[in-house]
Parts: sequence; C-alpha cells; structure tokens
Amino acid sequence: MTHPVLLGIESSCDDTAAAVVAGGRLRSSVVSSQDVHETFGGVVPELASRDHQRLIVPVVQQALAEAEVAPGDLDAVAATYGPGLAGALLVGLSFAKAYAFGLDVPLVGVNHLEGHIYSVFIEPPAPAFPYLCLVVSGGHTQLVLVEDGFQHHLLGTTRDDAAGEAFDKVGTLLGLGYPGGPAIDRLAQEGDPSFHDFPRTRLGYDFSFSGLKTSVLYYLNEMPDDERAAFLQEHLADVCASFQQAIVDVLIDALRNALHETGVAHVAIVGGVSANTALRAAATDLADEEGVTLHIPHPRYSVDNAAMIAVTAHHKLAAGHTSPLTLTAAPSLAL
Ligand code: KG4
Ligand code: ZN
Repeated sequence: MTHPVLLGIESSCDDTAAAVVAGGRLRSSVVSSQDVHETFGGVVPELASRDHQRLIVPVVQQALAEAEVAPGDLDAVAATYGPGLAGALLVGLSFAKAYAFGLDVPLVGVNHLEGHIYSVFIEPPAPAFPYLCLVVSGGHTQLVLVEDGFQHHLLGTTRDDAAGEAFDKVGTLLGLGYPGGPAIDRLAQEGDPSFHDFPRTRLGYDFSFSGLKTSVLYYLNEMPDDERAAFLQEHLADVCASFQQAIVDVLIDALRNALHETGVAHVAIVGGVSANTALRAAATDLADEEGVTLHIPHPRYSVDNAAMIAVTAHHKLAAGHTSPLTLTAAPSLAL
C-alpha cells in the first residue's frame, strides 16, 4: 500500500470527530463538539455517549464527502480505543470495527495520547526524532521523550489535576462556564499576570495543579461575598492572568530542565492547553533562548480531533501495526 486511504474516528470525550488521510496527507477533518454539557459545568458521560450515537454517522459521512472519498476507497479504518470515557469510546470504536468488518479492511486502534503526540505530524514541518513532547490536555499533563516512532519514554506526569482540569475548575469557580481554558485565556490577555503570586509547585518532571486551584478558591473565599463581587468586577482579568501565569511558569520550567538534560533539538506542545496564548508565547521564547525548534499544532489540532487519530494510524499502518476486531475500549489506557 503506497498511498493508503484511512478514515480516523475520535470519540473519547465530548467531541465526535472523523478525518480522512490519504498517503499521510490530511484530506478532511470534521469535529462536532457537544454543547449539551455546558449547562452541567462538565462532561456528563451518559449524555456524551448518546450524542456520539446521534452524531457519528453524519460526521463520518461529512468527512468522506469533504475528502471526496467513497467508503470503497478506504484501505483501513482507525479509531481511538482509550483512554477516555468508556461509553463514549465504545461508540466510535464499535462503529470503526463494524465499518472495517463490512469493508473487509484492517482496523487500527489508536491510543488518544499517542494521537496528541503525533498531532505535530498533521501539518509540516514535522519534528525530527528524538523530540520532547509536553502533552497538556483536559485529562493529562505528561512530559514525554519521543525517541523514535512509537517509542516513548515518560519523563513525568501529574500527581493530581491535569493543567486543563485546573483551567476548567478555576473557570467554574470564576463563573466562566465550561470549559474554562479558552475563557481564562481570553480574559488573561487584558490582565496583569503579576497581580497576585499564586503558588507554583515544582516536582522535578512531575506536576501538581490541585494546590494552585485550591489557592485560587481560598484567595476568593477570604473576601466577604459583597466585596468579592466588586473585586471580581474590577480584577477578574488580573486573577485569570495571574493563575494562568502560574501554570505557564511550571510547564515552561519543566520543559527547560528536560531540554537541558536530554539535549534534544526539537520540542512539541500538544493537547487542548497548547492552544493557550501565553503558553505559546512563553514556549516560543524558550525555544529561541535554547536554540531548539518548537512544534505546536494549529489550535484546531490541539484540541480533540480525528486528524491526529488518522495521521497516527497512517504511521502505525506503515509500521505494520493493525488491531484485531476483538479490540475493546480501554478507558484507563496508558501511554
Ligand atoms: O485535548 P483536549 O481537547 O481534550 C482532552 O483530551 O482532554 O483538551 C481540553 C482541555 C480543556 O481542559 C480546555 O479547558 C483546555 O484544553 N483548553 C485551554 C485552551 N483551549 C482549550 N486551556 C487553556 N487555554 C486555552 N486557550
Ligand atoms: Zn485529548
């Protein structure tokens, strides 16, 4: 297969997504984000599964149509099989298994975290191996040395909340709705990052953001209710900027240390939080200072999408990796 055509499917959380890759090049990428969870301040697993059921067929049809590919042109079908919400994963994976079986083509199961790591291969220029990869999504904060294709060394991970989770919880605390990350990012652009000195927990290559989240809560709770409202009226952007700066400092320090220790020439930041404006700016400065090449996917490929699943599957297929139709959802799948 010199020019394989693959359909990739992603349904691990609250985005129903499908994408087509031909010969390793992206032909289409469709994401339908579920807005049903907004009112609940977080993803409701049962509602996510039901929405995936409703959306999976039209999303796949749209991805095929935009790529101008017929089902019979497909050489493989790929899907995320973990980590994620069990009921959500099952919808995309079961669809992919049935589709692959019906078309008599191989199934390629993809680890969602590998998908994020390989999201920097969606658009050129791709990083050269080995590269350092900071995975900052809603559920994960991990520092990974990607030694070669599908050979990873986990340098550090979060001991409690992920960075994205901290953004979302503080967003809820500040009344910014769900998910909080994009709203905090927007507000922080108007705020003063040195307004308040929130704590920065540094644990070598490991991370901990739960103390930071709690310190924002205590900071606000110290004020009487009427004062807090007036304070936030005036300083919401400053609180957002100060909180965000604490996260950015911790992530950038870990990256700097890992760059020094590993001596690699390429560094990547992937996952939803890599869409953050301040993190992007700080990472650009770090890369300049250290003389390394920085790779951050376009924001549309930072957050959950199926292009990263299809591209990862392309590389897996090229390396001869396919999955049996008995593959099942693995909610706690590790890297
Ligand atoms: O990778 P992703 O789409 O989903 C998971 O695999 O978890 O990441 C979602 C996370 C959410 O926590 C969201 O608040 C955060 O990414 N996020 C951001 C920004 N855009 C999305 N966090 C900070 N700044 C942003 N601009
Ligand atoms: Zn993700």
